[in-house]
Amino acid sequence: TKHLLGIKDLTEQDLQLIFSTADHFKEVINRPIKKVPSLRDITIANVFFENSTRTRLSFELAQKRLSADVINFAASNSSVKKGETLLDTVNNILSMKVDMIVMRHSSPGAPHFLAKHIDAHVVNAGDGTHEHPTQALLDTFSIRRQLGDVAGKKVVIVGDILHSRVALSNIFALKKLGAEVMVCGPSTLIPKYIDTLGVKVSHNVKEALAWCDVANVLRIQLERQQIKYFPSLREYSTYFGVNKQILDELDKEIVIMHPGPINRGVELSSDVADADNAIILDQVENGVAIRMAVIYLLAGGTAA
Ligand code: CP
Repeated sequence: TKHLLGIKDLTEQDLQLIFSTADHFKEVINRPIKKVPSLRDITIANVFFENSTRTRLSFELAQKRLSADVINFAASNSSVKKGETLLDTVNNILSMKVDMIVMRHSSPGAPHFLAKHIDAHVVNAGDGTHEHPTQALLDTFSIRRQLGDVAGKKVVIVGDILHSRVALSNIFALKKLGAEVMVCGPSTLIPKYIDTLGVKVSHNVKEALAWCDVANVLRIQLERQQIKYFPSLREYSTYFGVNKQILDELDKEIVIMHPGPINRGVELSSDVADADNAIILDQVENGVAIRMAVIYLLAGGTAA
């Protein structure tokens, strides 16, 4: 495979290969010398048309741990502001002998467009409301490391499913790996096409949490709301917020996940975000190993 554009196109075997390669790299980055020379001859550009903290830094660190040369591009301080197109921008970057483009863009399908028009490898680092494949890989990898396996686990994704590329990529990955999946949120934030994805739907967060082994709690994405937001953040927090009181009423401990950034006090209370059963920072740690695995395999590396 030349590109990673989405989870939809991957097989379970692809996912397992990425996981076993990431297991190896996780061991590598915990050594005193955290680097391997594998990609000394590769140059990668991280091209970000949307804001990011975790994804951009995690890709850059993964590339450096593999000894690749790295350049970083943020549209916000670039000649995109002078009207340069996406394709002209990327072709200019590629002229500098770049082999791989990692791109985040607000338009769904932008990395697919790029992959059709350039020779280099393309990795989707999030395309609008469509997919965020490396996030789903690190999320499912984190479940596997925490609970031993993904198959047979019950995972609820709580929140703004309608605008979430994290939700869609997670649904694809979890289903391919044999998990049972539920989405939970207000009906205004659940897409109409949800029935085609083979997941359960709940509008009651207490019921959803009682059902699951793992809750992946998503941020309310105000930046993607085209119409006046319903429910309001206060209503959302009252009816769908995950807090200690709700979790204390369960007769079990569930794993709490969040892709970040957290709106503390809205979708997740601070005491839950910081509790021992929350693996939010483990997800971030695992993201480096997962991105090393993805880049290494796309660049032609064989199973580690
Ligand atoms: N989870 C995630 O994609 O975070 P960033 O937007 O900070 O990269």
